[in-house]
Amino acid sequence: MGYANVEDMRQHARRRLPRAVFDYVDGGAGDERGVQRNRDAIEQRLLKLKPLTDVSRRDPTVPLFDKRLPLPFIIGPTGLNGAIMPGGDVALARAAARFGIPFVLSTASSMSIEEVADAADGELWFQLYVLNRDAARQFAARALAAGYRTLVLTVDVPVGGRRDRDYRNGFGVPFHMTVRFALDCARRPAWALQQLRGGAPQMANLRSSAAQDANSQAMLMLRQMDASFDWDDLKALRNEWPHRLIVKGLTDPADCARCYSLGVDGVVLSNHGGRQLEDVVSGFDVIEHVDVPDGRTLLVDGGFRRGADIVKALALGADAVMLGRATLYGLAAAGQAGVEQVIETLSLEIDNTLALVGCPNAADLDRTILQV
Ligand SMILES: Cc1cc2nc3c(=O)[nH]c(=O)nc-3n(C[C@H](O)[C@H](O)[C@H](O)COP(=O)(O)O)c2cc1C
Repeated sequence: MGYANVEDMRQHARRRLPRAVFDYVDGGAGDERGVQRNRDAIEQRLLKLKPLTDVSRRDPTVPLFDKRLPLPFIIGPTGLNGAIMPGGDVALARAAARFGIPFVLSTASSMSIEEVADAADGELWFQLYVLNRDAARQFAARALAAGYRTLVLTVDVPVGGRRDRDYRNGFGVPFHMTVRFALDCARRPAWALQQLRGGAPQMANLRSSAAQDANSQAMLMLRQMDASFDWDDLKALRNEWPHRLIVKGLTDPADCARCYSLGVDGVVLSNHGGRQLEDVVSGFDVIEHVDVPDGRTLLVDGGFRRGADIVKALALGADAVMLGRATLYGLAAAGQAGVEQVIETLSLEIDNTLALVGCPNAADLDRTILQV
């Protein structure tokens, strides 16, 4: 089946996944105004055309840290990908590798740090939650040993968001198998069969003899989360982690400046896809207010579904965009091939937008293509 765009993938994902799983991926905090705001922020920013420019050759690559990124986006961290498809983490990592873009593995991934590193050979980053010192140190050490060189510290989850769809569906920790969920699964035989073959999804990084199933692993992770983590802890982590450190989950330019001054290499403007607190400013709207020191990086996520969305973020001053749900819809719709199709579609849309706005090189985008 042909998918014209990411929304087509989303619709297919809706048909393929049990409702509780689709809602987990698709939903957000409270009334989901935050999810909608992320979209609105991007849609309301209009483009200006710069016609009469030679756009016969286009280049979507952008510089990112010490490399050139072949496409101006990367696949961001998402937990429990195994609920979408067994092996989902590796499918995402391999699809990213095929296009030469990094994949960020979540602390709450369904496959372990080591399993993903063994199975995928592209650039891997590891996302760390603000866990207690010991747990954080252990995860960072494991990631380093497995070849991950970039640590993404997610700071907007001192506690979990309240997501109403998950609450209604009983999708949370501890997980309750309700009659409704069982019936829902039975109506999604392709998904159910895959899950039966693949075994129940896990939070594999927390697997131990004391935590064999996803429920006890998730409980363990909740116990290890550290809501007291603050700027001093970030400073300590910066001193301990000798490689690239990115902080994800900022919405205030002052916090970005403070991170940069502590020696953090990059920040991700993000409201966690509207999944934590709904009435929070969209990362997209903050981009132009951040001063990025030379040699440091600014990433953004939240609501990116079209190539033109990504072009707008670059024009405002972001170095690249992180994808969350977009690639998950592809994974749900058609596994690794679906993820590749999302990447391919976005890349075609970016190429098309670069030509039509009249700025053939993504690296040259600036505010002259945006209405002020
Ligand atoms: C199903 C799902 C799981 C997520 N899990 C994590 C996670 O484990 N760690 C993290 O830092 N962010 C997580 N996020 C947030 C994403 O990294 C990203 O900030 C967000 O999805 C961006 O918004 P978008 O989905 O509209 O692109 C998750 C998002 C989704 C949709």
